[in-house]
Amino acid sequence: MPEKVLVTREIPQAGFGPLEGFDVTVLSEAPPERGELLGAARGAEGVLSTVTEKIDGEFMDAAGEGLKVVANMAVGYDNVDVVAARERGIVVTNTPGVLDETTADVAFMLLLAAARRLGESERVLRSGRWEWWGPKLFTGPDVWGKRLGIVGLGRIGQAVARRARGFGMEIVYHNRSRKPEAEEELGARYLELDELLRTADFVSIHTPLTDETHHLIGAEELEKMRPRAVLVNTSRGPVVDEAALADALVQGRIFAAGLDVYEEEPKVHPKLLDLENAVLAPHIGSGSIETRDKMATLAAENLAAVLRGEAPKTPIKS
Ligand code: GLV
Repeated sequence: MPEKVLVTREIPQAGFGPLEGFDVTVLSEAPPERGELLGAARGAEGVLSTVTEKIDGEFMDAAGEGLKVVANMAVGYDNVDVVAARERGIVVTNTPGVLDETTADVAFMLLLAAARRLGESERVLRSGRWEWWGPKLFTGPDVWGKRLGIVGLGRIGQAVARRARGFGMEIVYHNRSRKPEAEEELGARYLELDELLRTADFVSIHTPLTDETHHLIGAEELEKMRPRAVLVNTSRGPVVDEAALADALVQGRIFAAGLDVYEEEPKVHPKLLDLENAVLAPHIGSGSIETRDKMATLAAENLAAVLRGEAPKTPIKS
């Protein structure tokens, strides 16, 4: 009997190649309701999940004792309870390495758009309110030559730093541990978070969401930032206190923000929605055609490997 595999969302076709030969159920294009998800889990031996599904102990118990692997189609796996998985002997995998450049592109896109006021000025143009070129119209801070503070200098943070070098930016970073090789290669300088926040013109967040990084950037941290600073977040929403950020933007305590992730997706803090100095993308960081193909393929390869009794390419280390 082929092993039962549950794919929680419709994924790119490329992801189905490695799943050939298994008994595959695909749930839905939209995120499934919790009840539907738990019902569909029953008897699954492999689950290919995405960031919208909470894969916790309850889900694992609903699947039953046959569940061997949860292959998350994302590099972040804060939606998966890895302790519950370990207790049950379930392997968890993610998709690192294939989305770094693509996500860094979106971080840089948001950085440029927020600084140079693309969202706001485009809204004016589209609504027919653009009347003339103006010497002071839609001016924002330069990006080139400025200081970029990268919080979390992992693979994606480093890809952002490479882009910043092309813009002649000075790169400083904060990370749990020093990264001597990246310092050498990128000319990045380590700073304590406090000094980074006080001195950077741009701050881009690239940490995973953990208990330690929850609300890493809150009211106090925003207070330290420069009045012309721009904050970019393409990591996970809860790393930034969204209400505190909205207040800082309303009060003009920082210049602008570019966000791709939110605390309670798909909800966005209502104050942010009204702000002209917030550029808001709907969690599209890894969303290039090529990268989503690679993520689906890698997740499916990981899942298939475990069900065949082989080592998956990218297990998470917990
Ligand atoms: C997407 O958000 C990811 O973690 O890959």
